[in-house]
Amino acid sequence: MRQEDRPTALVTGASTGIGEAFARELARRGHDLVVVARGADRLDALAADLKDAFSTVTEVLPGDLTDRTQAAAVEERLADATRPVDILVNNAGALTSGLFAKLPIAGEVAQVELNAVVPVRLTHSVLPVMLDRGKGAIVNVSSIAGEAPTPFGATYGAAYSFLTAFSQAVHMEVRRYGVTVTALLPGFTAAAADPARRVQDAGRVVRDGLAAVSAGRPVCIPGRRNKTSAAFARLAPRSLVRAVMEASRNP
Ligand SMILES: NC(=O)c1ccc[n+]([C@@H]2O[C@H](COP(=O)([O-])OP(=O)(O)OC[C@H]3O[C@@H](n4cnc5c(N)ncnc54)[C@H](OP(=O)(O)O)[C@@H]3O)[C@@H](O)[C@H]2O)c1
Repeated sequence: MRQEDRPTALVTGASTGIGEAFARELARRGHDLVVVARGADRLDALAADLKDAFSTVTEVLPGDLTDRTQAAAVEERLADATRPVDILVNNAGALTSGLFAKLPIAGEVAQVELNAVVPVRLTHSVLPVMLDRGKGAIVNVSSIAGEAPTPFGATYGAAYSFLTAFSQAVHMEVRRYGVTVTALLPGFTAAAADPARRVQDAGRVVRDGLAAVSAGRPVCIPGRRNKTSAAFARLAPRSLVRAVMEASRNP
């Protein structure tokens, strides 16, 4: 493939975990990459690895996405119609947990910014170029935690409820123009699967997510157990869902 024909993917939080698995899988499938995270060293090492393995051209864009000035560089890159991004993966995220009243408010606000507001800003930056081109895909890595109110992870669950709903709404707006938005809702995920602890491996989560993108699906919940939990959270009476969440998450 000539270099200019290769599609480009921008992945946030690409230095570890699910984001790194997205970067590796998209590179393996012939994408060039733009990778974002705070730590430049890991991104540089990833870029070198991907160049060796797949001849991938990787732009490294280090920055803290909770800092509006640093996030603006990523927004500008996404809005650049001369170097269009074919797939945006909003994956960078943070987890805070504990009694909400005792958690530092700065961390809670930063978490909502990173898990919910940043994907809104980056989606808004990239969509005009995608709509003009009549193609493009956005993956918003959300969480199954967003399917029910989450005591001791109150802002985490709520931010992902927002992100999952937002993603579906925008998908309905743009799919007629050839652009899709997919909310990916993993459960517990790590580098290696551990079925006894209900942990899925990141590679599996990413492959399921990309299959949903290819199929133009707005929501992807990887794994049968996670699908069952989500179905319970969506279909059961709210009072029962709250009772189960309160009982299972009390410290
Ligand atoms: N793992 C799970 O069980 C699970 C389950 C459901 C949903 N999720 C969601 O899936 C996503 C990935 O999870 P993960 O477990 O793979 O995460 P992870 O291993 O903690 O990686 C997070 C990535 O985001 C980057 N990042 C963190 N804060 C950032 C910031 N302020 N600005 C820019 N980049 C930042 C990190 O790099 P730097 O530290 O260098 O910035 C890293 O590359 C997250 O959104 C998470 O909430 C995870």
